[in-house]
Amino acid sequence: MADGEFNPENANISKIDPSFIAVIKQREELKSKLANIKHKIGVYSAKGGVGKTTTAVNLAYTLHSMGYKVGILDADIDTPNVTYFVGYRGVPPRDYPLKPIEVNGVKIISTAMFFADSGKPIIWRGPMLTKMLKEFFADTTWGDLDYLIIDLPPGSSDAPLTLMQLIPLDGFVLVTTPQHIAAINTIKSGSMAKKFGLALLGVVENMSDGSAKGAKEVSEALECEVIGIVKASPKISSLTDEGKVPVLEDPEIKEVFIDIVKKLIT
Ligand SMILES: Nc1ncnc2c1ncn2[C@@H]1O[C@H](COP(=O)(O)OP(=O)(O)OP(=O)(O)O)[C@@H](O)[C@H]1O
Ligand SMILES: [Mg+2]
Repeated sequence: MADGEFNPENANISKIDPSFIAVIKQREELKSKLANIKHKIGVYSAKGGVGKTTTAVNLAYTLHSMGYKVGILDADIDTPNVTYFVGYRGVPPRDYPLKPIEVNGVKIISTAMFFADSGKPIIWRGPMLTKMLKEFFADTTWGDLDYLIIDLPPGSSDAPLTLMQLIPLDGFVLVTTPQHIAAINTIKSGSMAKKFGLALLGVVENMSDGSAKGAKEVSEALECEVIGIVKASPKISSLTDEGKVPVLEDPEIKEVFIDIVKKLIT
């Protein structure tokens, strides 16, 4: 055995960092709580505004239209957008365990559901955000799901870190745009996921000019497949602004997402 290599026979259990043991324990607990969800897929880029929520919501509704049972977990705890994107404006009673809302057949959990005033900022430090996110996974009554789509916030700190450490994910769909700076930040996101041993399920270039150069850059750097090119489209932004899900409204946009889903799930 090489010098410095871990030898379990010599391991002194009392010397193992208790926070490491706590993470493993939480991971195991969450794994059993999420046992009824077949696939858990994160939609991620560290770059803000590239279309993570757009991709997550449209993927979820496309999967649902193909006959799957689907949920969306809005992991953007302090700036949640998923309920807005699907046109939900209500405030359900805060039941415990947490009950997802259901909009057009897709179950959704989001911090936005718990605040009557959607204009009020949610100003929480990291530990509060992390606690809420863990509650979403541990205490939501999802029932049986084929797919749980997780819409991540930008950045690479609390939410992505918590997810990567604790949740048994299938992997991530990375979202980028044609801009080099978006690709650079998306490559960082993919590298982070790889460090945690998580799969990169594919890259989507959103708001594309058709060149696919952002997606190619990310795909080559991370050795992951390009699974979709979604063109910049005024229809996508205007429908979203109206709280309508583009794939439910426009057959051409739906076709684009069906192609993405086919590549994602095969
Ligand atoms: N293909 C597209 N064509 C035109 N507009 C788009 C497209 N995709 C997304 N948008 C618009 O761009 C804006 C940002 O999209 P979105 O909120 O999905 O990005 P995000 O990555 O989730 O942002 P954040 O980092 O803040 O979470 C939204 O107004 C959305 O409607
Ligand atoms: Mg978002």
